[in-house]
Amino acid sequence: MSVSRAEVESEVRGVLDDMIEEWGEELDEPIGMETKLVEDVGFASIDFVQFAVAIEERFNAKLGFQQLLIQDGQYVQDLSVSSVLDFVEDRLNNPSKVNPDAPVEAPVPGEARLTQVDEAERVDAEKFAAFRGLIRPRSPRAADTTPKNPPVVFVLSPPRSGSTLMRVMLAGNPSLFAPPELHLLAYSDMAERHAALQNEHNNHLLEGTIRAMMQLKGLEGEAAREFAARCEAEAMPVKHFYKLLQEPLNGRLLVDKTPTYLLDKDILERAEMDFDNALYIHLQRHPLGTIRSYEESKLTRLMPLIQQSAFNTRQLAEMTWLHSHSNALAFAETIPDERWISVRYEDIVQQPDVAMRRLCAFLGIDFHPDMTNPYAEKEQRMTDGVDTASKMSGDIKFHLHQGIDPGAASRWEQFYSVDILGEPTRDMARQLGYDT
Ligand code: A3P
Repeated sequence: MSVSRAEVESEVRGVLDDMIEEWGEELDEPIGMETKLVEDVGFASIDFVQFAVAIEERFNAKLGFQQLLIQDGQYVQDLSVSSVLDFVEDRLNNPSKVNPDAPVEAPVPGEARLTQVDEAERVDAEKFAAFRGLIRPRSPRAADTTPKNPPVVFVLSPPRSGSTLMRVMLAGNPSLFAPPELHLLAYSDMAERHAALQNEHNNHLLEGTIRAMMQLKGLEGEAAREFAARCEAEAMPVKHFYKLLQEPLNGRLLVDKTPTYLLDKDILERAEMDFDNALYIHLQRHPLGTIRSYEESKLTRLMPLIQQSAFNTRQLAEMTWLHSHSNALAFAETIPDERWISVRYEDIVQQPDVAMRRLCAFLGIDFHPDMTNPYAEKEQRMTDGVDTASKMSGDIKFHLHQGIDPGAASRWEQFYSVDILGEPTRDMARQLGYDT
């Protein structure tokens, strides 16, 4: 059955409108056929990914977008709306042109490799102290005398460490329940959480708990949203909400991977207050891999406070990495060795089998081969989001990969040399065992 041009146009426009609305931005000119995605709409590389994933979802078909988006190893800079429509219409009506096995070639940098930065730009102790001052302290919690919850597994990492991939791999093990980012521990109760996250920048972070409820209770999205709204209306303590997630698991371990927990040591301490023998996976990635990924993801768009700071995106990424790992190491000092494990993203993508077996031994569960096949099954792994995969809280790039990509470990080397890192960052990298 052929798909008409009008149908393609309406869906593609719908995706663009949703994205622009989500950014809370107004365009100078309405979108027309000659509108250019980079120049006129302000697309960054991560936006191409979201755009492609959302269009494929609307038509429920893989279209091989990388052949349109990446040419001569770079994102096409002058792509217009009409060329996207031509491509989508052609692929939908000629599915044999789509090669699902074509490798996703990461674009090579158009810019020169950065090997030096001015001393004034480099992260140092003074800048780091100013950055730490930007992070708002948590509001204190009321004393709680209720018994602790059963054990839980926390995956602790700065953003852009490969935590979505790791979560989805863990979710392949039947002894674990690993939903998308839960964003619970930072709050006292569900009302406080709702008030903090229900805004244009963060409301997708409310989705992980809803997706988890859908899975556990067999609910549709709408019913799970209503359930969550009831918990928020009665200001249910977060600890109680965790219990609702843990009770139906029949001995399976709940995994909570939420990168923002490392931003504040008070949040980490709550894990010890609320759970009996919690287990911690400290996920690490080379600072420059994390920094490059952070820059490409435009994460600062979601953080207005940080956006207004005097730091550039690279400095923010570097200090987020440094701050998160400093907190992790300080917290690790207070945790018995048998409840803490450090794992590297580089090892996960280069030796997934070894890395997952090591994690299973730590968690006291049997290894399962589905763990190393993260794209195999969507529902159990909850990679589909409440409404759409492009809204899954976590890394949208996960959907552009088709398997575990070992080359992703060293991609940053095309962009940066370690000489650009500040001294405190290099110290931390050395402590984590990275060669600087
Ligand atoms: P890059 O932006 O360097 O590609 P997080 O989930 O913690 O935000 O981490 C995101 C990083 O994990 C991104 O790094 C993303 O590409 C990478 N990632 C996601 N799925 C992957 C896969 N299948 N293989 C390798 N890396 C993957």
